[in-house]
Amino acid sequence: MNNFNFNKIKDFDRHINLSIPNYDFLSNHLKFLIEALTESETNILDLGCSTGSLLLSLDRNKSCNYFGYDISNLLPLELETEVNFEKSDITKIDFPTNTSVISSIFTLQFLPRHKRKEVIKKAYDSLNDGGYFIVCEKTHSNDPCLESITNSIYYKYKREHFTDEEILQKQQELTSVMKLKTPKEIEKELSMFSFVEIFWKSYGFCGFIARK
Ligand SMILES: C[S@@+](CC[C@H](N)C(=O)[O-])C[C@H]1O[C@@H](n2cnc3c(N)ncnc32)[C@H](O)[C@@H]1O
Repeated sequence: MNNFNFNKIKDFDRHINLSIPNYDFLSNHLKFLIEALTESETNILDLGCSTGSLLLSLDRNKSCNYFGYDISNLLPLELETEVNFEKSDITKIDFPTNTSVISSIFTLQFLPRHKRKEVIKKAYDSLNDGGYFIVCEKTHSNDPCLESITNSIYYKYKREHFTDEEILQKQQELTSVMKLKTPKEIEKELSMFSFVEIFWKSYGFCGFIARK
């Protein structure tokens, strides 16, 4: 069986928009959330930024530095003067310090299980006191019965945008690369932060915000 490959997805922003219910609403929310939490003269990071659309959508504070990291070839080709895009593996690089906001949107779920903790610790160390870590993940439900019902409603939604063959193929390809946790497990992983709360939820997709 082939593994899922982000480089093969045509029109990635459209694809993710159609794959995650209410993604449009989330994108807008993230834009305003990050802008509101940004402190001047700090760094803003997006871990697993794909096409860079989130950082590029921001009303960027001229005295801040913006960094987007992704391992794929989805990164923007043109030189964007106000955003530093780096093709790199977030499990292997150091993050800059003096950071006020870090986002990681549907990315930690693709890391090897043993690397998640290290990446979360690096994000924590990179943040200034009072800085925010925003994490969105597809999650397992705490209740298997509820998960099964949510999944069947989700597949109904997906069939509005994708063929049955596309849905099944993606599902099979994701099996070995997507490692989901329950919201409780994610809150526990983020427990080094002074508080964590859920700010968005749609089907099994969940947004967490943690303050250092
Ligand atoms: C589901 S996409 C989400 C992209 C983007 N954050 C968004 O919401 O549109 C996950 C992204 O994580 C990236 N990714 C996965 N593992 C990575 C790693 N170890 N280092 C950097 N990026 C990674 C993938 O290349 C992909 O672009």
